[in-house]
Amino acid sequence: MSESTNPTTTIDGDEYTKVAETDDIDVGRGIAVDVDGIEVAVFNVDGDFYAISNRCSHQHAPMCKAGERKINADHTWTESRGGVNAEDCTVSCPWHLWEWDLETGENEASGQRIATFDVTVRDGEVWVRV
Ligand code: FES
Repeated sequence: MSESTNPTTTIDGDEYTKVAETDDIDVGRGIAVDVDGIEVAVFNVDGDFYAISNRCSHQHAPMCKAGERKINADHTWTESRGGVNAEDCTVSCPWHLWEWDLETGENEASGQRIATFDVTVRDGEVWVRV
C-alpha cells in the first residue's frame, strides 16, 4: 500500500492527495492506498476512477484484491474472485462477493454502506479527497 506521504494539493477549496498515476491502475482493477491513515481502494472502471473504503463491511476483506487470482494460499482459490462490473459501476468483494456501488458505497442486499471518496484526475495523476 502506498504511504500517506504522497503530495497534496487544494482543488476548489478541498485538499486532495495524489495516490497514483492513471497508468498504475489497470482497467477493471484496484489498488490500495493510505491517505491520512485511511485505507482507500482506488478502481479504474474503463478509464474512470473511483475510491471506496478498502475494507468490506462484512468481514473486512481488502477490496483492492477484487478480481485477483489466488487471493489466499495457493491451494484456496485458483480463479479470480469478485471484481469490477463496469456496466453497473460496482465492485464485488473478493471474499463473499457482496456487491458495492462504487458511486454510493451501498450494498443493496444488506443495506450497508462503506465510505466513498471524491476522485479527480489531472494530467495523468489520480487524486483522492478523504
Ligand atoms: S468480507 Fe466482503 S463479502 Fe464478506
